[in-house]
Amino acid sequence: MSASIDAKIKELKVLEDGRKLQITWADGKDSVFNSNWLRFNCQCVKCRCPVTQMKTFEISSIPLDDKMEVKIADCGKILVTWKNENHNGEFDPAFLRKNCYSKQSIEEKRQLIRALPNKKTTIEKMEWSELDNDFGLWRLLRTVNDDGIMMVKNVPTEVGTILKLMKRVGPTQESFYEETWHAVTKEGAINISETGGKLPYHLDIPMYEAPPGILFLECLEFDAGVDGGDTIFADFLQVAEQFRIDHPEHFKTLTTVPATIKRIHLDRDHPVHMIIRTPHIKVNNKGEILSFHWHPCHHGPLCVEEEYVDAYYHAYQEFHKAVENSPYNKKIRFTKGDMVVINNRRMVHCRTAYGGKPGQRHLQGGYVCIDDYKSRLNVLENTVGNKGPVRHVFNGDWFC
Ligand SMILES: [Fe+2]
Ligand SMILES: [Zn+2]
Repeated sequence: MSASIDAKIKELKVLEDGRKLQITWADGKDSVFNSNWLRFNCQCVKCRCPVTQMKTFEISSIPLDDKMEVKIADCGKILVTWKNENHNGEFDPAFLRKNCYSKQSIEEKRQLIRALPNKKTTIEKMEWSELDNDFGLWRLLRTVNDDGIMMVKNVPTEVGTILKLMKRVGPTQESFYEETWHAVTKEGAINISETGGKLPYHLDIPMYEAPPGILFLECLEFDAGVDGGDTIFADFLQVAEQFRIDHPEHFKTLTTVPATIKRIHLDRDHPVHMIIRTPHIKVNNKGEILSFHWHPCHHGPLCVEEEYVDAYYHAYQEFHKAVENSPYNKKIRFTKGDMVVINNRRMVHCRTAYGGKPGQRHLQGGYVCIDDYKSRLNVLENTVGNKGPVRHVFNGDWFC
């Protein structure tokens, strides 16, 4: 969005005995910057390495609440002198406009990056062949940001294809499963996904503090003779926002009572003993949703004081019903060569039970870290995209 920022200055005023700077911009809007904020964000070469763009000063060396003198240089930069410290700093007006923290500006930024509930009943699609350039990759990642999910058709089913695409987005995110794993019925299953059993709506492996970010799930085989095995996707953001309206008390319970989410499975090659206690829905001080943790197969014994137990289970069951009954759930039957790319911090998926011989239904999956995905999308937005803001990806990021 920086390209569209109008950073022409109409007037500069030093307020509060040099401890605040007010800038009135040419469009009439005002920004006020505290002396402390400016000092800690000084853009001069002594404070910020021009090569690495990293801050280089000692935090404890800065005199707080220092008085400022301010003027505009011929080159247009704003020059600030902190009098006690005798430090001369400089700022590009565009930097200050972009980072303005007035109430109005923060609210505008909040609206720009607000994730919107997915109320589509179908999944956006693209062809694998469109992904042979960065524009195609941007379109995929952008749609996953906007909708939480996108389908890619006609993906080659050779081993390694999915991994190549994942690595174009960012480093893969490994877990106690492999870098890429297979959902196919087999002897000695270590997960329900390796059986033909029903899988309830869930986020993948939410017992991690940082669960997998983006899920790539490709269908390598789906024989016409397989009975069942449909996949349904639901947007937790849409469900939770509606739930907040319909059941405010239950919503509060799910945001304040820590659930137990666990994976304890010692009888396997890589034994696992993982347990995390966290509310199913995390919110910030304004009640905005930051993240979700949900996988009914891994919900362990609740460990909260007695007074919270019944409230929790009532809210828990009601939320489960809300997910199942959402009118926007998207049901698909994979065909060979289909791949869905999903924000696993937001979109839950479930699978109906299925029968058939081993190998007749075979999906391959893997993950990329949510922050690497967001970084890649930010970069692509500025190189081949619309220079638009990346919306909230449910990685815990929030405005005050
Ligand atoms: Fe899953
Ligand atoms: Zn400086």
